[in-house]
Amino acid sequence: MTDAKLPLFSRPSVRMGLIAGGAAVATILVMALYSSVSSRKAEARQTSLKLVNLDEKTVDPAEWGKNFPRQLDSYLRTAEKYSTKYGGAGSEGLPKSRILEDPRLVTIFDGYAFAIDFNQRQGHAYMLKDQRETKRVTTKPQTGACMHCHASNTVAYREAGLQTGAPGTLDEAFTSPNAQAQLMAGFEAICKMPYAEATKLVKHAVACIDCHDPKNMALRVTKPGFIRGIDALAKSTEPVPHLPSIEKWRKGDRAAAYNPNIDATRQEMRSMVCGQCHVEYYCGPKATLFFPWSKGLKVEQIEATYNEYKFPDGKRFFDWKHAKTGAEVLKAQHPEFELWSQGVHARSGVSCADCHMPYMREGAIKVSDHQVRSPLLNVSRSCQTCHRFPEEELKARVVAIQDRTKALMDRAEDAVVQLIGDLDKAKQAGAEEAKLLPIFEFQRKAQWRVDFINAENSMGFHAPQEAARILGEAIDYARQGQVALRDLGTSSAKAKK
Ligand code: HEC
Ligand code: HEC
Ligand code: HEC
Ligand code: HEC
Ligand code: HEC
Repeated sequence: MTDAKLPLFSRPSVRMGLIAGGAAVATILVMALYSSVSSRKAEARQTSLKLVNLDEKTVDPAEWGKNFPRQLDSYLRTAEKYSTKYGGAGSEGLPKSRILEDPRLVTIFDGYAFAIDFNQRQGHAYMLKDQRETKRVTTKPQTGACMHCHASNTVAYREAGLQTGAPGTLDEAFTSPNAQAQLMAGFEAICKMPYAEATKLVKHAVACIDCHDPKNMALRVTKPGFIRGIDALAKSTEPVPHLPSIEKWRKGDRAAAYNPNIDATRQEMRSMVCGQCHVEYYCGPKATLFFPWSKGLKVEQIEATYNEYKFPDGKRFFDWKHAKTGAEVLKAQHPEFELWSQGVHARSGVSCADCHMPYMREGAIKVSDHQVRSPLLNVSRSCQTCHRFPEEELKARVVAIQDRTKALMDRAEDAVVQLIGDLDKAKQAGAEEAKLLPIFEFQRKAQWRVDFINAENSMGFHAPQEAARILGEAIDYARQGQVALRDLGTSSAKAKK
């Protein structure tokens, strides 16, 4: 577009005009610079406007809001309900049930708490309430580990750590060795508590202190699962070009663990703060909560990590035994950070916050929108800063990706449900358990993959090709399982004759 205009500037007849125009442009530039400087000053003024003194004990977001009213205001609006074609939980009453919407999930999750109650996610304001009220908690025993991602627990962990004998005081800076020892000891202790006891230690959903340093508002990560998980990832050999600070750490002397609060860039932190919770994890009674990242973030790498993992009782890792078939299967949960990691946006340095917490102008001040929600409600600020397509066009592209993912996911779920049905029939017909073992592995693989994409909350958008690859594999493994079962049937039928 600009190329076509270039020859115009070389025409002598426009030279004089250009000189005069140049002076005007220079004036405008100076004025623009001035206004940008003064708005920066205004930003600096607002960020340093200290009405209350925030420290490592200030949990209540309302206190932080006295210094930062704009961020508090949008943060509180995560209580607003909405729905898009695939996002949000609906705007009326209780959140939509994902198992009523898709009964195949009841078959896939048979024998596990998710078959009882599994709803669409909603805003951050609800995270603690929804966890306390879900039937997965009220009808099944759960541990304090659940709290890791559903509350502001930075202070609760440190307090619990101090009680178990960790050194120092609460006043120490979060990155100090004492504070880290408190955090990890408290985390271990709270993970072991029954949920009902642990939840009494917290009052708020994720809050300012969990993502910000109270001294200077710099971004930080505070969740122990992430701090350990990202270090495990750094120690692996898996390339992570979208996280350059890890690549850099790997080339260093590795004397200290990879520490996002020291090593990560600001742009990386704009995703890592979300990666504290929007990730796959193990959270159960047999081991302390962990993020399975020691071989990488791809679906098969996480699976390999689980396959190698042994529980203290010596058994290999599984989330539950499928009620119909008896297969030892895996449950995936919201791997947003992992799927985003495989997409073109992560590779291009686009962070979660770029799309989900875009800047908004309030007078002369630029504020990050703390009403974390679907970017489709915000296309101009979330996408059009980089993509110059009309809003309708951008939305249509997203929905096209999501519709395709959904269609493939439907086929994959059908395939898994059919394999489960066939296994069930074979068992009822008296098939030998030992012969079914290899087929259970097909169920485990297929089910893990379809669930990985179903549990991921962007319906494929965060990495469309990766989502399609995973669903393709799910279909293949389920059908391979059926073929193996059919072969088993024919061979035993032959044997009988
Ligand atoms: C390039 C923009 C972009 C980036 C980067 C991005 N997302 Fe998304 N995200 C989207 C879009 C678009 C959707 C689909 C929204 C919808 O269906 O309404 C989505 C959906 C979601 C949802 C479900 C939202 C809802 O309304 O139900 C969650 C949760 C989410 N993303 C978390 C993350 C996390 C965590 C990261 C970083 C690891 C991330 N996203 C990175 C664009 C982005
Ligand atoms: C402390 C853990 C935690 C952190 C940190 C966190 N989230 Fe969430 N997020 C949740 C939980 C839990 C829910 C679901 C709450 C519910 O359904 O009650 C959720 C819901 C969401 C939703 C759905 C909103 C809606 O109204 O449907 C989006 C989008 C989202 N998160 C994106 C992000 C992004 C982007 C970040 C980083 C800036 C982030 N989250 C950081 C735990 C977290
Ligand atoms: C590693 C972080 C993490 C841990 C640990 C965690 N959650 Fe969540 N949870 C999330 C995120 C992120 C969401 C929002 C995305 C979604 O719904 O998929 C969520 C959503 C939910 C929801 C609302 C949607 C639904 O599934 O019905 C409930 C209820 C819930 N979690 C309960 C629990 C329980 C019970 C535990 C302990 C067994 C637990 N969570 C442990 C991060 C976590
Ligand atoms: C889930 C993590 C998260 C939580 C919780 C959170 N913030 Fe932020 N906040 C961010 C991110 C991401 C940015 C962008 C920072 C950057 O780019 O350096 C930000 C930026 C800010 C800034 C810098 C100015 C701006 O708007 O960009 C202030 C001030 C701030 N937040 C205040 C708050 C307050 C007050 C609360 C609690 C009411 C809060 N934040 C809760 C993630 C969070
Ligand atoms: C900070 C810049 C940035 C933001 C914000 C951003 N994108 Fe992108 N997007 C990119 C880059 C860079 C690519 C890589 C391809 C390219 O160079 O054009 C890309 C690629 C895409 C693609 C094609 C690749 C694919 O995954 O299929 C789509 C569709 C897309 N973006 C949609 C969106 C939507 C919708 C939003 C808002 C929710 C958004 N983008 C926000 C920079 C951005």
